[in-house]
Amino acid sequence: MLILGIESSCDETSVSLVKNGKEIICNLVASQIDIHAQYGGVVPEIASRQHILTINPLLEELFTKTQLSKDDIDAIAVTYSPGLQGSLIIGLMVAKTLAWLWKKTLIPVNHLEGHMYSPFLEKEIKPPFLTLLVSGGHTELIIFEDHGKYKLLGKTKDDAVGEAFDKVARLLDLPYPGGPYIDKKSQIGDPKKFAFPRALPASYDFSFSGLKTSVLYTIRNMQKENIEIPVEDICASFSEAVSDTLVNKAIKACKEFNLNKVVISGGVAANSTLRKKMALECKKRKIEFFSPPLSLCTDNAAMIACVAYYKFIRDDYEKDWLSLDAQSRLKPY
Ligand code: KG4
Ligand code: ZN
Repeated sequence: MLILGIESSCDETSVSLVKNGKEIICNLVASQIDIHAQYGGVVPEIASRQHILTINPLLEELFTKTQLSKDDIDAIAVTYSPGLQGSLIIGLMVAKTLAWLWKKTLIPVNHLEGHMYSPFLEKEIKPPFLTLLVSGGHTELIIFEDHGKYKLLGKTKDDAVGEAFDKVARLLDLPYPGGPYIDKKSQIGDPKKFAFPRALPASYDFSFSGLKTSVLYTIRNMQKENIEIPVEDICASFSEAVSDTLVNKAIKACKEFNLNKVVISGGVAANSTLRKKMALECKKRKIEFFSPPLSLCTDNAAMIACVAYYKFIRDDYEKDWLSLDAQSRLKPY
């Protein structure tokens, strides 16, 4: 079964062709990062306009590159929630138009399910398992009980973890989005140099505002005393604090709910400190650890097509798609 995936929920326009929910025939991602970087964050209106400019040429490129046509496609999958309303609408309108014109099945997909399924593009994982979804907009600990059946254990009470990375990067004058820059600097810094706080150890919820404020005061105090800011050490200590928090909660949940598989997904799953720490702690406890390849951690349409395949085979999707609207906040649990 060949599914055309379309994703436009934030600042990446992406189209993809995926066979049977696992084989990526082609996955094209047009990132708008360079455009938004000058503003220090995503500007929703600019994002929507850019999706309009990009999506049709990207679809043309997909079909030209793969030498496939509309006749080879069995269904169209599209992200309809959550995300920036204006951005979501562009992808959804394109998907609806194509589905109507080409007489194809349309399968609406929740973006968060997309991230949760992204490791499946490399290896099918048999539920139940624990999923740690860490991105620019979300920090959630979920039990993936079965396909379409998820239990939310905890979520962030303030900033999403990717947002915390981006804000701390801004304090250090690093470019946007800051996660990858902090990651790189952390490699040569001392993770024990600063003892930044690890919040809410007893709960499955997360909070990163105290950690962010602690970094802010550390920097301010050094500036007051004219001490040169040890950027690499701050990055390494911050990454260490974030990773400790994420890993400790994941391991605690595995113990409590008797789970022996952990999956991390979302943009922050690309973080090397987190990947290393999670892999190590899981190995110690004979827990299997899965993470998507780096290229599939951030937003992409292949993961959307992957979810759609599993929805299609269990016949679990919204059929009245002509009246379906983009929804900025809907969650799959
Ligand atoms: O999943 P994603 O592409 O978009 C959302 O759905 O939010 O995640 C983007 C987030 C950004 O905050 C970015 O800074 C962060 O993921 N990120 C990273 C790394 N790569 C991307 N954070 C830490 N380390 C990384 N290597
Ligand atoms: Zn995302």
